Amino acid sequence: MQVIILDDEQHVSSHAADWVQELVNKKNDAVLGLATGSTPINLYKNLVKLHKEQQLSFKNISSFNLDEYYNIDPQNPQSYRSFMNENLFDHVDIDKSKTHLPTCNKDQNPRAQGLIYEQQIKDHNGIDLQILGLGANGHIGFNEPTSSLSSRTRIKTLTKQTLIDNSRLFKPDEEQPKMAMTMGIATIMESRYVLLMATGKNKAQAVKDMITGPVSAMCPASMLQMHENVVIILDKEAASELENQEYFDFAEQQNTLISDLHGLLHNY
Ligand code: GLP
Repeated sequence: MQVIILDDEQHVSSHAADWVQELVNKKNDAVLGLATGSTPINLYKNLVKLHKEQQLSFKNISSFNLDEYYNIDPQNPQSYRSFMNENLFDHVDIDKSKTHLPTCNKDQNPRAQGLIYEQQIKDHNGIDLQILGLGANGHIGFNEPTSSLSSRTRIKTLTKQTLIDNSRLFKPDEEQPKMAMTMGIATIMESRYVLLMATGKNKAQAVKDMITGPVSAMCPASMLQMHENVVIILDKEAASELENQEYFDFAEQQNTLISDLHGLLHNY
């Protein structure tokens, strides 16, 4: 795991945008794994800026989102489709027919929909770079604690903590979905590179469990310890419970001395 600790959320987002820019510049038809939540919003703002000011083009990019609420109309402002349109897709030159979310409505079979999503990812030769946020309970996507570490795209019931954490995003008259389709942990683990961002004090315990805890279904993100190419970008608050902070800072300083380690994406 490469752990990078930066001063604040702004630095985390712009650093993450550098990785995405590097990938898109190296492989203009890359397959991106995308996330929702508050954490990636500024990353997307930075990508829009790079598109407008530096002609970073998403024309040939395909994308697969981590998750989507069960049985939600894509037009519903609370759908993750709407989130992606609003925060990224409507502001760059991506072809929306190449953007995918794991949807399932009440007339569809969630198991069949999960299999279709997995097959679509395979048909695109897998995900090059998966962007992740982190739930305060250690979830990635909507893989809540106790999720199988070998799970695939499927339907999940959200935990009370996640429902409470996300309730801030719903207006009193809006119904908050309690189930979602999500990529599984095994699906995420197959991405060639993983970039996880976490900011703020309320993520500090989950960050500690993810990086230094045992690999456990109780902290789904801890499975990333088994991934070959992961970069974790944290602000100081999210890193505050880590005992090895000095080592991570030292390792990062050393890395910058070796030009080949400047970029994460050495296989492209
Ligand atoms: C959400 C999403 C996750 C996200 C996490 C953290 O419920 N399903 O993909 O990473 O919870 O959200 P936030 O970035 O808003 O803290």
